Amino acid sequence: MTRLTPHQPARPAIAVFCSGHGTNLQAILDATRAGRLRACVALVLSDRPDAGALRRARRAGVEAHYVDPRASPTRAAFERVLIRRCEARQVRLVCLAGFMRMLSPVFVRRYRHRIVNIHPALLPAFPGAHAIRDALQWGVKVTGVTVHLVDEAMDHGPIILQEALAIRPGETATSLLARLHTMEHRLYPQAIHLMLAGRVKVEGRTVRIADRR
Ligand code: GRF
Repeated sequence: MTRLTPHQPARPAIAVFCSGHGTNLQAILDATRAGRLRACVALVLSDRPDAGALRRARRAGVEAHYVDPRASPTRAAFERVLIRRCEARQVRLVCLAGFMRMLSPVFVRRYRHRIVNIHPALLPAFPGAHAIRDALQWGVKVTGVTVHLVDEAMDHGPIILQEALAIRPGETATSLLARLHTMEHRLYPQAIHLMLAGRVKVEGRTVRIADRR
C-alpha cells in the first residue's frame, strides 16, 4: 500500500461514462497526468462494447467496463449496476462524456449535483444527440459548448461553464465538430476541477463559481 504524506492527499475519484470515441475522456486523462486536474479517473463505464473510450481507458491503466444494458431487466436495474460500480470505487463525481443514454431518477438521486455532462451547443439551444447538425441547419451565427449538472431531464440541469464560438462562412459539420472538440477538451477538465474544488455553488438554476480567475 502506498503511504500518503500530509502533503499528498489522495486525489478525488471520478468516473467517466462514455459511449463513443472518448476524446473528452482522453482530455480528462491528459489533464490529470499533466497536473491541471487534481483527480483520479478511477473508473470508465460504457454501454457499448466497441467504444473507443474503453480502449483509451485501458491504455491508460484505468479500470474500464462495458455494462450491457440488455443484461438488466429494467433501466433502474441497469443503473443500479452503474451505481454499485461507482460506489465500489468511492466515486465523488460522475462525468458524462458522450454517454448516449439518459439517466433516470434512480441514478440522478444517488449522485444529485455530482453528475456533469458536456454538450456541443449553447444550451438550452439544440439539446439532444444531433446538436451540431441542428445548429448548422438552423443557420445560427454563434454556437458553443456547455458543461452542466445533470438532472432528470435531457440536457437540462444548471449550467456550470459555457463558451461561444462564431460559425465561419462555409463552415461544415466536420470543421465545426473539430473546433467544438478543441473547446470541449479545454473546458471539461476546467469544469471538473471547479466541481472537485467545491467552487461550484448551485442555487436553483443559478450556478456561482467561487474565485473564478
Ligand atoms: C462530445 O461532442 C460531447 O459534447 C457530446 O458527445 C461527444 C463525445 O465525444 N456529449 P467523445 O466521445 O468525447 O469524442
